[in-house]
Formats: sequence, C-alpha cells, structure tokens
Amino acid sequence: MIYLADTANIDEIRELFNYFPMEGVTTNPTILSHENKNMSTVIPQIQECIKDKMLHIQTISERAEDILLEAQRYRDYFNLNDNYYVKIPVTKEGFKAIRLVKDAGMKVTATAIFTQQQALIAAKAGADFVAPYVNRLDNISSHGIDVVGDIVETFKSYHINCKVLGASFKNVDQIYRVSMVGCHAVTASYEVLEAIMKHPMTDKGVMDFEKDSKNLYDI
Ligand code: E4P
Repeated sequence: MIYLADTANIDEIRELFNYFPMEGVTTNPTILSHENKNMSTVIPQIQECIKDKMLHIQTISERAEDILLEAQRYRDYFNLNDNYYVKIPVTKEGFKAIRLVKDAGMKVTATAIFTQQQALIAAKAGADFVAPYVNRLDNISSHGIDVVGDIVETFKSYHINCKVLGASFKNVDQIYRVSMVGCHAVTASYEVLEAIMKHPMTDKGVMDFEKDSKNLYDI
C-alpha cells in the first residue's frame, strides 16, 4: 500500500519523509488554510522536502475548462512534471475536467468521492486515483470501509487501471481496515500516520532489551 501525507505542514512532512517510506503529499484548500501561507510559498517548500515523490494539488475552479487552465498554471508555475497529480472534485464539471486534464497529458486524482458509482465514472473518465472519504462517510452513518472495498472490487472485476486512494481518516482502525480490503493507497494526517506506526508493547520491548543488554554488549 502506498502511504501519502495529507498535510502541508513543512515540519510534519520533513519528519515523515525522513523516517518513513512515504510516497507523496496530498493537499486541499482546507489543509493549506491551516498553514496560513500562500500556495506560492508552501508548494515549493513541500517540493524541496519530497523531491520527486507524488504531489497532489487540488483545483478550485468550477468550470471544466477553467479547471484545466488552473491545472496547467500550477504545472508551469511550480515546474511540475510526472509526479504531479491534479486533484479534481467529482462535480459534473469535474468529471468533464478529468478527461480534459488527462487529454492535456497530466495525471488526475478524482477527489471528494462518496460512492462506488462516482469512483467508477471518474475512473472511466481517466482518473489515475480516486479518493473516497472514509471518515466523512462514517460520520454520516454510512460505511467508509465498505465503499472503499466496493470500489476496489469493481475496479478488479472490470479490469480498470485506476488506484483507490483512501482519504479522510481519523483513526488507526480505519487505515487497518481499508488495507485489508485491498485499498491501493492511503493519505492521512501526521497524527494518524504516527499512530499507525506505534505500539506501546514495542516501546516496552525496546526498554526491556535496553535494560537487559547492560554490561553484556561489550563489543
Ligand atoms: C484528501 O485527499 C482529502 O482532501 C482529505 O483526506 C479529507 O480529509 P478530512 O475529511 O479530514 O478533511
């Protein structure tokens, strides 16, 4: 499974990429707003940290043609290439934009997905990733994990070459369960990513090893 960082905080990105096998960063307007920095400042800082790993940048235009222009503007301004994914919400115009952006030679992550059909249509339109929002589904008494599992199965049965990028996680269990239904990738906050790699028994085990090693490790 591919792990991506759902944050634009430079300290968090630097630490995650320093210690763990991270493969990219996803951003959206809300994530950027938490940093209180303009895009023109924060995106180059992220690029500096992640080098050639994936960078998913969300568009905010409404009309499909404007989404294409916006995607091209970011590509040119930030000098992005193969690791650039244009994140497009799956509105009616968004579905059209997926095709336009793909035809223009860029990669697409279809985002704000809540149903298997939205994912299937986005994939048919050419999306490279589809991003179902697990926790937001769970919070409206729906079932995020089931939606992810349905999308994975659908892509498998129709031999569709599009990856499922689980998004919107609030806890370790959600990540565990999407990985068990074959989700290809997840994007999560620093807190959730840190939590999935930790276990109190690991910490206790290491402390005990340290204690028991006293005076024995003499080489
Ligand atoms: C990522 O692509 C999504 O924008 C993000 O995971 C949404 O997460 P949230 O529900 O925590 O805002």
